[in-house]
Amino acid sequence: MTGAPADVRDLLLSRIRDVPDHPQPGVVFKDITPLLADPAAFTALTEALSELCVRHGATKVVGLEARGFILAAPVAVRAGLGFIPVRKAGKLPGATLSQAYDLEYGSAEIEVHAEDLDSGDRVMVIDDVLATGGTAGAAAELIRRGGAEVAGVAVLMELGFLGGRGKLEPVLRGAPLEALLAL
Ligand code: PRP
Ligand code: MG
Repeated sequence: MTGAPADVRDLLLSRIRDVPDHPQPGVVFKDITPLLADPAAFTALTEALSELCVRHGATKVVGLEARGFILAAPVAVRAGLGFIPVRKAGKLPGATLSQAYDLEYGSAEIEVHAEDLDSGDRVMVIDDVLATGGTAGAAAELIRRGGAEVAGVAVLMELGFLGGRGKLEPVLRGAPLEALLAL
């Protein structure tokens, strides 16, 4: 958890909708579209994540396609930092670095433009949710392979019952993992 004020956390939590049995039976999907549609809540979220970027000395912000893009782009603008898209494989047109990672069933691959990362950069990874930690861990690997440093990972919510923190923290090698909400 972070130092975000309790009233901010309450506001954010109140704008996340539980959708039972999506995308498959037995899963409760955490829908952030009510939060995005509420300018006060979206602004508070942007401010809270932006403060984390400043606190941890980030020089750039990575957003993870797709929902991470929505959160990370305004944070980058608010914090006065450059935005780097990490995309699902096959979308970026230039020379890329690719990183595969495990899903619950199967695997996936994400990519970044190699030229977006420099040796002097400290990069904050921003996403909506930490589940198993696979996506954020792969992003951290990409950042290091690009020669940059991982300033941290910051998410709106962490699904603690999936154990993602325990899997991700060794990959982060001491860089902070910040979650505004622990669910
Ligand atoms: C979701 C979510 C996170 C990721 C977390 O992305 O937005 O990025 O899963 O899961 P993990 O911690 O187990 O890796 P997903 O690619 O499913 O959907 P999106 O394209 O809508 O962001
Ligand atoms: Mg995602």
